[in-house]
Amino acid sequence: MKNFINLKDIPAKDLRKILNDAKRRKNKRKKLSNVDVDKDQPLKGKLIIQMYEKQSSRTRLSFHLSISQLGGSSITIKANELHLGKGAESLADTAKILSTYGDGFMLRTDSDKKIEDFSKNLEIPIVNLLSPSSHPCQVLSDVFTIEEIKKKPISNLNICWIGDCNNVLNSLIATSVKFKFNLNIGCPKNYRPPKFVNDWVKKNKRKINIFNDPKKAVKNADVIFSDKVVSLNDKVNKAKKIKDFKNYRINSSLMKNAKKDAIFLHCLPRGNEVSENVFLGKQSKVWQQALNRVHVQKSILLYCFGRLR
Ligand code: CP
Ligand code: NVA
Repeated sequence: MKNFINLKDIPAKDLRKILNDAKRRKNKRKKLSNVDVDKDQPLKGKLIIQMYEKQSSRTRLSFHLSISQLGGSSITIKANELHLGKGAESLADTAKILSTYGDGFMLRTDSDKKIEDFSKNLEIPIVNLLSPSSHPCQVLSDVFTIEEIKKKPISNLNICWIGDCNNVLNSLIATSVKFKFNLNIGCPKNYRPPKFVNDWVKKNKRKINIFNDPKKAVKNADVIFSDKVVSLNDKVNKAKKIKDFKNYRINSSLMKNAKKDAIFLHCLPRGNEVSENVFLGKQSKVWQQALNRVHVQKSILLYCFGRLR
């Protein structure tokens, strides 16, 4: 049994195994619908419990499909429907109950510590569905989408992130270390990745390139990523933050600085950080990106249950 909490703590060879498995499984399903079950049904008889302390559209739906395609059962609960969420039961007792009824637990929360505490108290694997520090399922799936479209390993590509230093970027930084790809980040000075992130990158003998000028960050990029300027967990002055990022909007003029065949990715939901014509334009692969989460998350679950081929 393995947890899937933060990409930086997972060996690169395991991440690669997950991606290879997802590719094989996706190829085998070409003629199947979203609700058809894979022949081998590797999660048959298993119940996966998803819990959300904050909103989600894609994660909850894509995991529902991932689990059902693997032949497993899933239940999705909102934290405030639980005794734990109302403060009337301890985390340890809740974890024991989850482990008694379920075979896997997945959590979206505003607290990295809560994920850690659950991981210590559960007897079943835990998957991080987004926390302040990390969005690992999203980003591993995005690596899959990039390699699927570009038909080459991500290590041969220039990846660019324009935007806030948030959970998605943290996971992207972790993958840039694991898979050794070139990562340019374009953001205002006050929104750069914190020192401890940079120190971790350096400790792993890698480097991230940070630019104030978004045009310089985008130059030669094969892939341009963005995300909402204000994340769900942001307790900042929103109007100020949006103003600080006003020169970092991804529009067609900025896209021209990237390679001609560059693609645009965004995990969604979106805000004003990308223009409508880029988001809905030819270079945008956001819908393929969203759909691929189903496939990669299946292999993440199999990794957790020690069932990867
Ligand atoms: N990209 C993503 O995680 O979307 P949701 O917040 O809708 O799950
Ligand atoms: N950075 C965003 C991602 C949403 C999927 C947030 O945390 O709100």
